[in-house]
Amino acid sequence: MKGRVLVIGASRGIGAGLVRGFLAHGWEVDATVRDEASPGEIADLADAVALHQLDVRDAARAAALAADLTGAELDVIIHNAGIYHGHTDAELIEVNAIAPIRTVQALLDAGALAAGGVVALMTSQLGARRGKQGAIGGYSGSKARLNDSFRDRADSWAAAGAVAVVVHPGWVRTAMGGPGAPVSVEQSAAGIYELLTNLTQDKHGRFWTWEGREHCW
Ligand SMILES: NC(=O)c1ccc[n+]([C@@H]2O[C@H](COP(=O)([O-])OP(=O)(O)OC[C@H]3O[C@@H](n4cnc5c(N)ncnc54)[C@H](OP(=O)(O)O)[C@@H]3O)[C@@H](O)[C@H]2O)c1
Repeated sequence: MKGRVLVIGASRGIGAGLVRGFLAHGWEVDATVRDEASPGEIADLADAVALHQLDVRDAARAAALAADLTGAELDVIIHNAGIYHGHTDAELIEVNAIAPIRTVQALLDAGALAAGGVVALMTSQLGARRGKQGAIGGYSGSKARLNDSFRDRADSWAAAGAVAVVVHPGWVRTAMGGPGAPVSVEQSAAGIYELLTNLTQDKHGRFWTWEGREHCW
């Protein structure tokens, strides 16, 4: 066994691809889905994966999961869950910006991560401000806020023993990315696997793409 990874938001798309990718490399995989009775694209992996129920909007459930994983010595935690189309700004902020920070903080506070373990939050290149003036809203604004909150926490997460990054997974052919996206789930997951399993302390607190290139804020 190479290590133990927790993928948060694993029922579909990139999250499901990450589960398959880490399993293929011989990792022990914990994965969260909103409904354990219908784990979507990882339904065939019931025997290979430790499934946990989590809707990331539910802070109490996230805290309970963190308590369950105390001492789990997770080598990698990936917060992948996210939403885009058909949601209000408030819903986008809750799921894409507030929940990832809160859930990871609960896991770190519970001592679920191994010393020197990796934390990755799935952001988007659309969340990069790139010197834009004024506020950016919608999905982009929610990922920009995630990035800002991550940078605020980066020092304390390093002090907690984490090597933490935000990751742009590429424009990926999922329900969110659509059929015209240029990157397959398998390509994105493979790139993220390489990035996260070769992450050194000097890369902490920064914004990386699935191809291992640094992204501007
Ligand atoms: N695809 C792209 O081109 C692209 C580009 C940039 C960034 N991203 C980011 O990459 C991540 C994955 O995207 P994707 O394309 O794989 O999206 P997707 O196919 O729409 O899948 C989204 C995943 O997030 C889960 N999720 C949504 N709301 C949740 C909640 N409240 N609690 C727990 N899980 C929840 C979904 O679970 P359910 O099945 O229960 O709904 C699903 O597993 C997201 O953070 C997204 O913003 C994607």
